[in-house]
Amino acid sequence: MILITGGAGYIGAHVAVEWMDRGEDVLILDNLCNSERSAIERISTLAGRPPGFVYGDVRNRRLLDTLLRDYPIDAVVHCAGLKAVGESVREPLRYYDTNVGGSVVLCQAMAQAGVFRLVFSSSATVYGDCTRMPISETCTTGQPTNPYGMSKLMCENVMKSVAGSDPRWSIGLLRYFNPIGAHASGLLGEAPTSTPNNLLPYLLQVASGERQALSVYGRDYPTPDGTGVRDYIHVVDLAQGHTCALDALRERRGISVWNLGTGRGYSVLEVINAFEKVTGVPIPMTFEPRRPGDIACCWADPRKSLEELGWQARHSLESMLTDAWRWQCNQHRHEKIRQAN
Ligand code: NAD
Ligand code: WQD
Repeated sequence: MILITGGAGYIGAHVAVEWMDRGEDVLILDNLCNSERSAIERISTLAGRPPGFVYGDVRNRRLLDTLLRDYPIDAVVHCAGLKAVGESVREPLRYYDTNVGGSVVLCQAMAQAGVFRLVFSSSATVYGDCTRMPISETCTTGQPTNPYGMSKLMCENVMKSVAGSDPRWSIGLLRYFNPIGAHASGLLGEAPTSTPNNLLPYLLQVASGERQALSVYGRDYPTPDGTGVRDYIHVVDLAQGHTCALDALRERRGISVWNLGTGRGYSVLEVINAFEKVTGVPIPMTFEPRRPGDIACCWADPRKSLEELGWQARHSLESMLTDAWRWQCNQHRHEKIRQAN
């Protein structure tokens, strides 16, 4: 059985479905601060049986000790954390407490329970403003421009030290590029609780008429069309990267770092055009100045993940956008039904 912290969230829920699809068991620990209990029901529907679910906080050492004692957990996927960049600037202590503090407590409880296999949700943000593309795992980590990114780098450093202190640890740091998309069933996806900061969730709300226009931040970057370029990766591909990492870590000790990206970058305008093409829905937009802290380009060199995990992303940008739109339309329908009642 694996424990997934933050397993009711966008990425953790997809990891749960992937792992359960293999006939394995999952226990989810989540305090639902950025997700809803209905995610657990949706995971059950997709997996054909319910995952274990415990409502609670990953910083709660006593709770973790109990879970690690009472359930046959042999690995942990640590997705629980706060992820809004702007919010992290306003509330840095909450971010360090949850993200760094949560990771420290989790590692302590795991070590005490004798569970040493850990997969961590890291981020390409730890590379900072790396200018050489594509970014491989050997690129030095940079100086993230916000407390969120800093907290991810700190977590990585905590885990590196922990792995160095005891040879029984097997830790995989998964550096996600830009996860988007949704489960093809339309049952699982990203459900922002406040105004979205990221491109795709915002674009989806413009497409469904909840917001008027998409602001395109910066058209003067040194990129082919002047807008920022990112490596968007389908969340189901990303989830499969976790199952491959969990398998690989059975045979590896110490720290392993893997990029989870496609190796291909798309500009903001390319994403908008592709979305309009696959859905037929026009996206009104305005050009705005660059967003502070943004970099021009960021895409992965995914070769190490292919060589060591046998993993590579398979979904095209078009399929990411189609799946994301299906999810958004379902959400919208449910919201209307809820309001009507
Ligand atoms: P999410 O907010 O959808 O999921 C995180 C989950 O963790 C939520 O269900 C939330 O309720 C839970 N959680 C938060 N604090 C908790 C706590 N103290 N105790 C227990 N549960 C807690 O976010 P996501 O997109 O699924 O991201 C998952 C992880 O991946 C995060 O650590 C995030 O930093 C990282 N990440 C995300 C992205 C992205 O673009 N989505 C990119 C890189 C890395
Ligand atoms: C993508 C591109 C924007 C919104 C962030 C975090 C990173 C990681 C993923 C967690 C950029 C442009 C965006 C909008 C726009 N998260 N954009 N209008 O900035 O690459 O990464 O999410 O780890 O840490 O920093 O993703 O989706 O915000 O932006 O033009 O309304 O879209 O300028 O070029 P980003 P994003």
